[in-house]
Amino acid sequence: MDQNLTNLKNEALAMIMEAETTDELEQIRVRYLSKKGKLNNVFAELMETVEDKKQLGQVFNQAKQTLEDTLEDKLGKLSARPDRQEWFDVTQPGLDIPLGHLHPISQAIEEITQIFKGIGFTRVRYPEVDWDWYVFEALNFIKGHPARDDWETYWIDYPPSPKYGEMVLSTHTSNGQVREMERVKKPPIRMLNIAKCYRRQQDVTHVNMFHQFEGLVIDKGINIQNLKGTIDYFAKNYYGPKAKSRIRPYNFPFTEPSFEVDFTCTNCDGKGCKFCKAGWHEVGGAGMVHPDVLKAGNIDSKEYTGFAFGWGIERTYTLKPGLKLDDIRPFYDNQLKFLEQF
Ligand code: PHE
Repeated sequence: MDQNLTNLKNEALAMIMEAETTDELEQIRVRYLSKKGKLNNVFAELMETVEDKKQLGQVFNQAKQTLEDTLEDKLGKLSARPDRQEWFDVTQPGLDIPLGHLHPISQAIEEITQIFKGIGFTRVRYPEVDWDWYVFEALNFIKGHPARDDWETYWIDYPPSPKYGEMVLSTHTSNGQVREMERVKKPPIRMLNIAKCYRRQQDVTHVNMFHQFEGLVIDKGINIQNLKGTIDYFAKNYYGPKAKSRIRPYNFPFTEPSFEVDFTCTNCDGKGCKFCKAGWHEVGGAGMVHPDVLKAGNIDSKEYTGFAFGWGIERTYTLKPGLKLDDIRPFYDNQLKFLEQF
């Protein structure tokens, strides 16, 4: 008698094995395993007649369990194969993954590095937290020198070094000058030092943390012509063939003579507009390396001469043609809407 149940079980098992879609499986489940399904019906009929009800119950429970397990197993297999469930267009374009890009100032650093690499400058970087000696003293700013006030310095609360003095956040990349002389020892030197600098000032053209790039060239017979030629080379390569530079007399303790460097405004090509001062923008300082600084770096000033320049990267970058940016603060506000434009 329980043979009927076993036959029914085998019939259902075969169908489950053959099923190709989850829909088919559901139909099989309803037909055999639901409340009014075949298995329950046959069981109920047999219970009316059979003597050993206990044994029949066992056969029924086993058959039911086997079918349920097999069905669930098959359902898992079919669900893992989307081609058996529904049509799936493998040729559809995928979702775009948003791609970022370098921060505009990182882009500028990269471009400036490449331009100077082309004329043999070696890119270096020196500490942003440095000793008074490298930032000021070796650069001819004796203690109490009024020019120190122009570099609004953050001092670090740290025991001073007997040799190098107090610790500061470097206010300019000129701290790299004597460090580079110590590294190379014997000229020629062609250094490009790019680093962060820190000053206690904040307005539209100044932020507390900014970047500078510093050039230093020392060799036999280096003169102002070489300095002016290098500045012009940079202007034309960075701003385009029409760009011009000019140097104006100025004063820095570590260069003699010293200059301020201006570039023509790329917005009006030097004619004068609301962005510039009569066609020009001031970008930074330059000059011939002071003999005292060569001495601090152990270089004989009778044999060698050199020039140096140092400019803010943010400022230099905002003067690029078409940018028309008169505020450098948004570079550090972390607003993606602003940064994505570059
Ligand atoms: N370090 C100077 C500044 O921060 C710029 C400069 C660099 C001037 C090199 C002369 C030579 O303003």
